[in-house]
Amino acid sequence: MEIRPANVGDVDAVGDLLVHLYEAEAPNIVNSNRAGCLDLVRRSLRQANPDLAGGYVIEASGQIVAYGAIAPADDPRRPIRQPGFRTIWRTLGLFAALRYLVGIKRLMLRVCAQLPPGNAQIHSIVVHPAFRGLGLCRSLVDHLESELRRAGNESIMLYVLKGNDVIGLYGKLGYRRVAAGGGPLEWLKHPGFVMHKFLGRKGEKG
Ligand SMILES: CC(C)(COP(=O)(O)OP(=O)(O)OC[C@H]1O[C@@H](n2cnc3c(N)ncnc32)[C@H](O)[C@@H]1OP(=O)(O)O)[C@@H](O)C(=O)NCCC(=O)NCCS
Repeated sequence: MEIRPANVGDVDAVGDLLVHLYEAEAPNIVNSNRAGCLDLVRRSLRQANPDLAGGYVIEASGQIVAYGAIAPADDPRRPIRQPGFRTIWRTLGLFAALRYLVGIKRLMLRVCAQLPPGNAQIHSIVVHPAFRGLGLCRSLVDHLESELRRAGNESIMLYVLKGNDVIGLYGKLGYRRVAAGGGPLEWLKHPGFVMHKFLGRKGEKG
């Protein structure tokens, strides 16, 4: 098993993992048309972030089995640009296209919201269903934290979406739920909350 930065050759596999992530935390986006959604997610990755910058994968026996990404404090996460509406409409049909766009927009409003200054972000953690319960998420998050610590980040936040029962998992990994300010667009965002972990001061061993 190897944890390594993701690269352009991983886009198809990472697209598939991201659809598994949406299925867990925002099933409205996927609807019943998984193949169409997968096509759109892969297209948007190819257009917007073909190098999967900030992303890391776990590879086991030549298969990509987990994905996660980091956004350092000085380079916050940005929404992934989506294909044009006509493409989404043609792929999913009108009503599913509208649900997809609204779902993605609400998700991005939540997970790309401004974090308090000085906080890096870990996001898009997903393990392929056939490989869950083996400690891969723990290994991946450890690795992402080391990368952020090495780059001088002292504090990490991540978003957990309401309805996705992973607060216990992140609690085990040392994250604590914190109060996050509402803001005027709160009602538009996908419901969720923030968890935080302090990595230690620069130069301290984590
Ligand atoms: C959540 C997810 C990433 C966990 O991956 P995993 O590789 O199965 O997790 P691990 O095996 O590393 O588990 C680490 C620890 O958390 C615990 N854990 C795992 N999932 C949990 C959950 N949903 N609730 C509470 N604890 C959980 C494990 O029992 C393990 O505890 P232990 O070390 O004391 O035995 C995986 O289930 C997944 O991809 N889900 C769909 C996508 C998703 O929800 N991602 C999170 C977005 S914030």
